[in-house]
Amino acid sequence: MAKARGAAGKAGGRRASGQPERIKIRVNGVWHEFAACAEGAGVEASETLSHLLRERLGLTGLKLSCDEGACGACTVILDGKAVLSCMTLAVEADGRSVLTIEGLPKDDPVIRAFAQQCEPGYGTALQCGYCTPGFVMASRALLDENPAPTPDEIKDGLSGNICRCGCYAGIARAVWHASRQDASSPKADGVLRSPEGASRKTGGAR
Ligand code: FES
Ligand code: FES
Repeated sequence: MAKARGAAGKAGGRRASGQPERIKIRVNGVWHEFAACAEGAGVEASETLSHLLRERLGLTGLKLSCDEGACGACTVILDGKAVLSCMTLAVEADGRSVLTIEGLPKDDPVIRAFAQQCEPGYGTALQCGYCTPGFVMASRALLDENPAPTPDEIKDGLSGNICRCGCYAGIARAVWHASRQDASSPKADGVLRSPEGASRKTGGAR
């Protein structure tokens, strides 16, 4: 990960095996501490971050679809980088910061752009919505790293996420609008309605 671990979250004691006795994870700005154990009531070494977030903290915004790293539905942001929470162990997040979709402000430009992009006749960015939290978090991480991506960079940045409803063009357009902070940008429509649109590399071929 690119960013250093937060010292405030470092766990204290460790067992002879080197496993921490407790882990601390900052989730949406709030530190949570868990007992870590080989088996039993605490966080086991094999527990995934997605399980911890959904089952222990009730943060069900992230979705589990494939549960094997192939679809992006479970994407969260860990120390500023988009990660697949189903492929990340909870203990790997010890002392680090996690952002889930619940932690984004309601007026986040990405959320606003996805909401606006589902208006009838506008080329929707979501139908069933199951993939949407993953796309939103992947998009947020993309724009944090590259605030003004080109259409190709948007396609590449979201290539790990799958939308089974096939809303790729609308999703890419929403991200474009979010990056420009202006959902009425005619340039955006011109670019992203164009041929082959955004529907290929954003996962449609898988
Ligand atoms: S549920 Fe994690 S990548 Fe599909
Ligand atoms: S909107 Fe249904 S899977 Fe993407």
